[in-house]
Amino acid sequence: MKRLFILFIILSFFYKAEAQYPVGAKASDLIPKPTLCNDLPGFFEFQPEKTIYAPQEFTDAANLLAEQLNGGNKITGQANKAAIVFTKASPNEKLGAEGYKLNISPEKIAITAETVLGATHAVFSILQLRFLQADQSKLPCAVLTDTPRFGYRGMHLDVSRNFFPVSFIKKYIDLMALYKYNTFHWHLTDGPGWRLEIRKYPELTSEAAFRTHQKWTEWWKTGRKYSHEGDPTAYGGYYTQQEARDIVAYASKRGITVIPEIEMPGHSDEVLAVFPELSCSGKPYQNGEFCIGNPKTYTFLEDVLSEVMSIFPSTYIHVGGDEANTKAWSQCEKCQKLKKDQGLKDEHEVQAYLIKHMEKFLKAHGRKLIGWDEIVDGGLPADATVMSWRGMSGGIKAIQQGHDVVMTPGETYLDAYQSDPATQPEAIGGYLPISRVYNFEPVPEGLTNDQEKHLLGTQANLWTEYMPTTYQVEYMAWPRALALAEVAWSKKEFRNFDDFQRRLNAHYLLLQRLNVNYYRPSGFLTILAQPDYGKQQNKISIQSEQYKPEIRYTTDGTVPTAESALYAEPFYTSGRTEIKAAIFKSGGQEGGVASNVADYHRAIGEKVIFNKQWSDSYPAQKELTLTNGVRGSLSYGDKQWLGYLEDFDVTIDMESVQPISSVSVKFMHQPGPGVFLPGYVELQFSDDGKTFTTVQKQTHDFNPENKELGFKTFEFSCSNQQARYIRLIGPNVMKGFMFVDEIVVY
Ligand code: ACM
Repeated sequence: MKRLFILFIILSFFYKAEAQYPVGAKASDLIPKPTLCNDLPGFFEFQPEKTIYAPQEFTDAANLLAEQLNGGNKITGQANKAAIVFTKASPNEKLGAEGYKLNISPEKIAITAETVLGATHAVFSILQLRFLQADQSKLPCAVLTDTPRFGYRGMHLDVSRNFFPVSFIKKYIDLMALYKYNTFHWHLTDGPGWRLEIRKYPELTSEAAFRTHQKWTEWWKTGRKYSHEGDPTAYGGYYTQQEARDIVAYASKRGITVIPEIEMPGHSDEVLAVFPELSCSGKPYQNGEFCIGNPKTYTFLEDVLSEVMSIFPSTYIHVGGDEANTKAWSQCEKCQKLKKDQGLKDEHEVQAYLIKHMEKFLKAHGRKLIGWDEIVDGGLPADATVMSWRGMSGGIKAIQQGHDVVMTPGETYLDAYQSDPATQPEAIGGYLPISRVYNFEPVPEGLTNDQEKHLLGTQANLWTEYMPTTYQVEYMAWPRALALAEVAWSKKEFRNFDDFQRRLNAHYLLLQRLNVNYYRPSGFLTILAQPDYGKQQNKISIQSEQYKPEIRYTTDGTVPTAESALYAEPFYTSGRTEIKAAIFKSGGQEGGVASNVADYHRAIGEKVIFNKQWSDSYPAQKELTLTNGVRGSLSYGDKQWLGYLEDFDVTIDMESVQPISSVSVKFMHQPGPGVFLPGYVELQFSDDGKTFTTVQKQTHDFNPENKELGFKTFEFSCSNQQARYIRLIGPNVMKGFMFVDEIVVY
């Protein structure tokens, strides 16, 4: 018995030594990574008798700290007796609007900041570091100075597609604050439900805050009808003005500004179902856009915005502006009269007329208008700020016109899949692993220093069509929002995904302690083949969402076992090699087996003649894309998938007539965002580049109605044939996007 006990002690020692997560993280493990940080030996111990001192200006930050330490540490008026001391910095210390200094020694925690916001960020650094400790009564010593890269660091939440309670909004804000986000963009109104009490128009909440179906997809596919408040099966809800004010105050105490979004002129089906006189048709359930030629529209929107401004003190008021359908306006007498009277060129200018009106109204009340990048299309109001979501181009245009911009393109859309969609709960589409969020750079190339000043920052967007519960929101938000927090706060030159992944490992403890249903780093492996043109070999690296797990792999097509080669660093392969890899824990396999074929094939580096042009929206590596030896991943945004709106038609010049044994080409299928396979792929050969003969034509059986992400490799085996020119044709029969990558020739 005793011997067994000793064995247990020895085993548990080894078990601990093997644990991958750091037990007791240091200040240098904070996320976002601080500007300057020196870890020091020793600990500060939180003991109830230790007191907190703060100058008047920082009282709120000191109270917040006392409260978060469970009231154990009292506030004192005597600076010399206190163990936790806040000090106001002079402007010479250059801590700015949000920076802080923190000195944690065994005797004392010294917090220095120029503003209460800076002091609040220091408080959250202390709290974050405390959550990362096995023993939360001790804080490791360190000296740090920390200032943000961007002044706008946002997280958005769509509460229209699904409604979430006040308690959850507060939890969301708590997490944002711990990771130094400073703006909560609250998407309060949209077709699936109006979510804010407006006293002048009670029908907005009694009639338009509830719908017939709980599940958004079911509601969307059926009549898209609303229910009355009180109907037993009505799904929805709204925030009273008192609740919204409470959230504003709660956020403000945590250094977070709440920006409300009231959608106009589109995404307003719910308003127009209840107030059809504000739509072009005048009938309920006909339009999603306000009638811009109707003076009543302006009265309504100004009334709503007046109440909104009385609840939300934020400088910015978000007016949406995205995805408005211009059709109703083009057929509406009132809108067409307005267009003529005002000399508006097209329907984008009709939309801009309304947005400009609202900007003047907000400005007259001391506020600023912010909207999605569609507000650029018909001409921007003088002082509008733009949220660029359809890529970065709308934002770049706005910056060139001297406007402020928040960059929030696809890399910040946390509603996309974070791992292989086949393994995930249904999401809206796309593929955005945490590494892509982390590597997102909000500042586009080519801006001048002055233009760069207009780039305010970035924001994570959470649209909730496929997030029916708070659990699912958390699953999609965390930990990817930690990656964007670092993009938004930390210096660009600090960006290192490997180091982030190492630090992230310590933060799962915090997320667990706060009962966050975060996405667990999966057993999903990515096997990357990077051609080395000098060596004429592929460099193979295996990436994991986990930090340095035990990866075993094979190169002979067999399934890896616990005895297979251990992956330690990238290795090289020649020709065509099938690689299989899996994670092992305690001798057993975890998750699935990943596989990839690394081809150093014969068309690598050969010239491709483009008989039809790719789409400028997805140029990938342009003329090099299809024969660069690098395969497109699960995402068409990875700059390896060449996008087509026309037919696909290319010719590869192999430089001399030679035997060709096989040719293949791969396409993506993702109907959600309109990505389809070609109708068929035809292979042709030629010796002179002029006369081509068809070798083979292949069709496929993919169903365009099937929403799931899929891939089709068209493979042609052509033994005993010779050619110099290889032509591949794939007609774009669905008239959507086609994405193609890597033509493999042997
Ligand atoms: C948006 O994603 N429609 C702004």
